[in-house]
Amino acid sequence: MTRVVVIPGDGIGREVVPPVAEILQVFLPDAKFIQAEAGFGAYERSGTPLPETTLAACQEADAILFGAVTTPPDLPGYRSPILRLRRDLDLFANLRPIRSLPLPTSRSGVDLLIVRENTEGLYSGIEETSADGERATTLRVITGAASRRIAHAAFRLARQRRSHVTVVHKANILRATDGLFRRAVRAVAGDYPDVALDELLVDTAALRLVREPEAFDVLVTTNLFGDILSDLAAAHIGGLGVAASANVGERRGLFEPVHGSAPDIAGQRIANPTATLLAGVLLLRHLGADEAAVRLERAVAATLAAGIQTPDLGGTASTTAVCAAVSAVLEKTFTRSDGSVSCGSDA
Ligand code: IPM
Ligand code: MG
Repeated sequence: MTRVVVIPGDGIGREVVPPVAEILQVFLPDAKFIQAEAGFGAYERSGTPLPETTLAACQEADAILFGAVTTPPDLPGYRSPILRLRRDLDLFANLRPIRSLPLPTSRSGVDLLIVRENTEGLYSGIEETSADGERATTLRVITGAASRRIAHAAFRLARQRRSHVTVVHKANILRATDGLFRRAVRAVAGDYPDVALDELLVDTAALRLVREPEAFDVLVTTNLFGDILSDLAAAHIGGLGVAASANVGERRGLFEPVHGSAPDIAGQRIANPTATLLAGVLLLRHLGADEAAVRLERAVAATLAAGIQTPDLGGTASTTAVCAAVSAVLEKTFTRSDGSVSCGSDA
């Protein structure tokens, strides 16, 4: 049986995840949906941001829908549960599609995919501060194996798209780490003669991404560069409220909005559920429910195009109003045994 773990997390994660999970349940009537806790709230309640029961459920899962978590910067020893999940579940590829949406704030003609290495680099967690607090280091770990693995993922995905990979690095300065990453990607390219490969230094890539995002197909890069460039690229299509991501390993996948827990707007019912809805599209596709994925993606686009948008996009709709509108579009084309698709209400 297909198992889907649902982790709302903290802040607006708790507002955007439940209605999206409800929609996914309609598409996956035979799947088992399991609710689990993670984040700062979980830490306050149980003393750990990633309870063992959550990790165990994720290990058994086929797919995980993850909201967002709050990570306090000053709490000694605290480690973000999303980073632990990516690492412990070996979700080595963080896929961040950036595609134009029917929104006034979205540039047209953009369709790129950032393939971000998700397990090492500056996210190694290996850090040190001297006794006097005046010197600090973070270890940037790059391995050939992880670099080749992410390169294969990028080339395979490029084959399903426009067959063009750009490797983004800073090998002129980070000669050891990015030198290795660059060489590994170039070596793997030999297995994909049908895919074009070019390269850009990360600073140039940032400029080109701002100026001509249409020029890109697949970008493959290390962990932190991918983190930064994906926020930058999201600005072209309506911002973080609409950017979704898939963290995938050999079998399992964890799907999440690119945005954080946004404590400043939490509780106001104005969080944009689009990023989580589109993460749901990626989840459906991962589970092989391709037709459902297409339907949900179209329903989201139709809702946005009809002007049903949250305030970050210039609209006045609430989180639940957007989800209810998506459900209404789906209902027109989707029939379930009891004939309904519900998405909660503002009441
Ligand atoms: C992201 C986020 C995370 C990251 C944080 C929340 C740990 O910024 O998914 O892009 O840095 O990877
Ligand atoms: Mg980020």
